[in-house]
Amino acid sequence: MIDRIKHLLREVEELKAANAGELEALRIKYLSKKGEIAQLMNDFRDVASEQKREVGQYLNQLKEKAQQRISELKEGFAHVSAGHDDIDLTRTAYPVALGTRHPLSIVKKEICDIFGRLGFSIAEGPEIEDDWHVFSSLNFAEDHPARDMQDTFFIRHNPDILLRTHTSSVQTRVMEKQQPPIRIICPGRVYRHEAISYRAHCFFHQVEALYVDREVSFADLKQALLFFAKEMFGQETKIRLRPSYFPFTEPSAEMDISCNLCGGKGCPFCKHTGWVEILGCGMVDPNVLDNCGIDSSVYSGYALGMGIERITNLKYQVKDLRMFSENDVRFLKQFEAAH
Ligand code: DAH
Repeated sequence: MIDRIKHLLREVEELKAANAGELEALRIKYLSKKGEIAQLMNDFRDVASEQKREVGQYLNQLKEKAQQRISELKEGFAHVSAGHDDIDLTRTAYPVALGTRHPLSIVKKEICDIFGRLGFSIAEGPEIEDDWHVFSSLNFAEDHPARDMQDTFFIRHNPDILLRTHTSSVQTRVMEKQQPPIRIICPGRVYRHEAISYRAHCFFHQVEALYVDREVSFADLKQALLFFAKEMFGQETKIRLRPSYFPFTEPSAEMDISCNLCGGKGCPFCKHTGWVEILGCGMVDPNVLDNCGIDSSVYSGYALGMGIERITNLKYQVKDLRMFSENDVRFLKQFEAAH
């Protein structure tokens, strides 16, 4: 046993390690619980008692030497890394994973850019609103069903404070502060008390446009709508206006575009009609202008409003509205090239 210890003593004195990994391997080999020295300590129990003294001395000596040599090597490494010799400046950087813009943001920007080219500038308003800006100023009668608790989220049962149900509230906010000419585009989030499904959500996004000036006519509205449809869905796109009703516009219309999937021939997407609905619009009701301090005998205007989710669905055929708010990167990554 003494010979074995002496052999190890010589070995330990010569120990070398090129890096921290090798050093750790040496520590395990000699000093760990199952290492060489622990093994010898085990065998020591069987050494004849008259030899115990001498063997014990050698064994202690070996243990100390091993600990000493290994900590010497360790200090050597600490010194090297303090000198930064282990930093390789020629290595290529880690690839930076860039995120993608959200599809709704891409489409919102595109809508705003198109109207921007017609001279509209962006206006925004609060999501927590009051009854006046969302309903009363916009000519909603006291008993209009849109005010119903079933549609609107009220804040703390106060019937005057609510989450806006449409971005038309921004019209009022701007007209109260500014006299015509007014040419604004208002993107934003809106809220409705709806059961969440693939086709409805309790929050979604709209863009509202408003143009008020002297002698603004329905022909101006139609021209802007046609320009928008062609820019957004391609130059071959056709539009169709159907009479409709909104409290804040008179006359009111809904606009369809020729189905951008089948080019108007008819397919399951457009329910074989060749047309898909995309927005509501109309001439601003004179009551609304007067409510906001704009003289309706001098000025007229048009307004239009559309759902960003709807336009996005048409452009990218997203079948389930819930995808927009689930943050699934597999869905979001598909829009990497779209902006
Ligand atoms: N505010 C309407 C809605 O939420 C959309 C709308 C329709 C806005 C016609 C308008 C408009 O400005 O003229 O359904």
